[in-house]
Amino acid sequence: MPQSNFAFDQTDDEHDDLPLAHAARHRKPAPRKHWTEFSEGEQLLDAFTMTYRPARYEEGWLKSSLRDLFTQQYISDVLALVKGGKEASVYRCAAHPRMGMEWLAVKVYRPRMFRNLRNDKMYREGRAILTSDGRPVKPTDDRLLRAVGKKTDFGVQVEHTSWLMYEFTTLQRLHAAGASVPAPVATAENAILMGYVGDAQRAAPTLHETTIPAEEASTIFAEVMRNIELMLELGIIHGDLSAYNILYWEGAITLIDFPQVTDSYANRSADFILRRDITRVCDYFARCGVACDSAAILHDLWERYVAPHREAFLPDV
Ligand SMILES: Nc1ncnc2c1ncn2[C@@H]1O[C@H](COP(=O)(O)OP(=O)(O)OP(=O)(O)O)[C@@H](O)[C@H]1O
Ligand SMILES: [Mg+2]
Repeated sequence: MPQSNFAFDQTDDEHDDLPLAHAARHRKPAPRKHWTEFSEGEQLLDAFTMTYRPARYEEGWLKSSLRDLFTQQYISDVLALVKGGKEASVYRCAAHPRMGMEWLAVKVYRPRMFRNLRNDKMYREGRAILTSDGRPVKPTDDRLLRAVGKKTDFGVQVEHTSWLMYEFTTLQRLHAAGASVPAPVATAENAILMGYVGDAQRAAPTLHETTIPAEEASTIFAEVMRNIELMLELGIIHGDLSAYNILYWEGAITLIDFPQVTDSYANRSADFILRRDITRVCDYFARCGVACDSAAILHDLWERYVAPHREAFLPDV
């Protein structure tokens, strides 16, 4: 049987080049409660430092999502909202002094995600469900798989965790492989902590929000393509790649936003998803004056990285 691209079977030693993620895996998590489980008194007494003043509706959710990251001494303050997105909000945090860096970015998934997961069916094909330690659920775990199938509260929570863990474990794999992605640091029940791109005044803009210098355009395009190839070498496709999910800071790019990462061998929609990623990237760089033929690039990448492996996974393609 071919192995899924998403089998996380590294030994602990293989994580040694990832000291922060390694620490995250070995730090015993404190028992977690959803914020609604805290009494009003507990919520009011819970006074960890937040320079950032959240809106009332945001406060309980934010505090419960970040509690573990505070108590486990990853962060010591929330400084600013970077961006409130459709599915998550990203904040700039002060890193705890033990972390040896000034800032960290935390992506906190919105509570809405518990009730209404993004339509992720297309991306899930070929992906195992990941548990909170980043490992795939055993196919023999009937109780859990039944709960997911029946969409019980527990099942929805399991899917939510899996979605978030795909984002985190993809950052781990890509970071270890030398891709331009934020360094993964830790996860909490509802949040991902990672390297922050930007400075005290502003977070790095996305390519969509900035104009890259014309003389840099072809180098930056080549760097995006290097990252796409690196992903394909690992058997994965970003799945939502565009100028909205690439940060630009001081001449360098950082790819972000990976929960919908797709298995390039085992997903029957992989060609559609890869084509969409490449087309969006090429459309952006064509507007910057870079000559790029998205159809030719897709054909070349598909033949080199995907086609040779696909038959083993999908005998009928
Ligand atoms: N590591 C980071 N450093 C600095 N800024 C970041 C970082 N990660 C994300 N951001 C900012 O937060 C925004 C939202 O992050 P992301 O794209 O991962 O979430 P999202 O749920 O897709 O949000 P959206 O719906 O807006 O795309 C990004 O567009 C970017 O501006
Ligand atoms: Mg995004």
